[in-house]
Amino acid sequence: MGKSPEKRNRVFSGVQPTGQLHLGNYLGAIRNWVKLQDSYECLYCVVDLHAITVFQDPKALRASTREVAAALIASGIDPEKSILFNQSRVAAHAELAWIFNCVARIGWLNRMTQFKDKAGKNKEKASVGLYVYPNLMAADILAYKANLVPVGEDQRQHLELTRDIAQKFNNDFGVDHFPLVDPLILQEAARIMSLRDGRQKMSKSDPSDYSRINMTDDTDAIAQKIRKARTDAEPLPVRVKDLANRPEAANLVAIFAALAEKSRDDVCAEYEGKGFADFKKVLTALMVEKLGPITGEMNRLMADHTHIDGILNDGAGRARDLAAPVLRETHEIMGFLGA
Ligand code: TRP
Repeated sequence: MGKSPEKRNRVFSGVQPTGQLHLGNYLGAIRNWVKLQDSYECLYCVVDLHAITVFQDPKALRASTREVAAALIASGIDPEKSILFNQSRVAAHAELAWIFNCVARIGWLNRMTQFKDKAGKNKEKASVGLYVYPNLMAADILAYKANLVPVGEDQRQHLELTRDIAQKFNNDFGVDHFPLVDPLILQEAARIMSLRDGRQKMSKSDPSDYSRINMTDDTDAIAQKIRKARTDAEPLPVRVKDLANRPEAANLVAIFAALAEKSRDDVCAEYEGKGFADFKKVLTALMVEKLGPITGEMNRLMADHTHIDGILNDGAGRARDLAAPVLRETHEIMGFLGA
């Protein structure tokens, strides 16, 4: 069944402007976002309102917002085709989040594993914003009636909550207003793990910079980090399944495969019998070849604040235009006067 134009697939995703973007973000998310632009109308949002659920230094937040925008554009997000903006510039997100604070149940939020992880032992000291973080995320998506949301596995529970909120709103008011989102769980590019510990995800919050390749790393930094990456003394096996108990070795193969857009088995077959000292050399060369141009373009973009800020400003304007009728209709449904 064909969809009417107003029901066509719309993609929404968000990335927090906290810390540096790294290879895991690029291979796990950004590269897929770029591909989705060919098939869908896409909104990509730098979620600064989510970032402040834990304290952010204003100067760092500003720099990080520009850096994320630059990384997305340098990676191939086309700001003409897609809508690229920062969340705080579009008031509809915060407005709809308030409404969803009144739709979502405390019991639902109490089940969110990410809150438990992020709040840690001292939940009393976490911000209220961190607790209602998933409601804001639902608002991000539903303000545009987006129905496709590419995220990592760690966000699945938040998307289920988004569905619950949409469903409850629709039931409470007897309408078919908000769509039920489909998670597009991105996993084909493999989970990219830390270069220091093959059992931990590559993360911007890891205290060791040697655990990750940042998107701003230059050739020397990449070469040094790969050289120091943990491995073992065994050569590459012929098949990827023989890497089962060698997490660091498996990770380097997975990174190579993702960068080369080949299967891990093909990579093993190609380099079978080689030691990791040699494999690291080809991996470094490939990484520099793939990331070098992106890093160069990012640096160029980040040097020109006026240009980046102009792109975000334009995106925010287009986002506001899309969200306005959804908010108006939502208010009307709920009985807010003045629509
Ligand atoms: N919570 C997401 C993350 O940490 C970021 C995010 C915020 C998001 N709003 C979103 C992702 C809406 C998808 C859709 O990765």
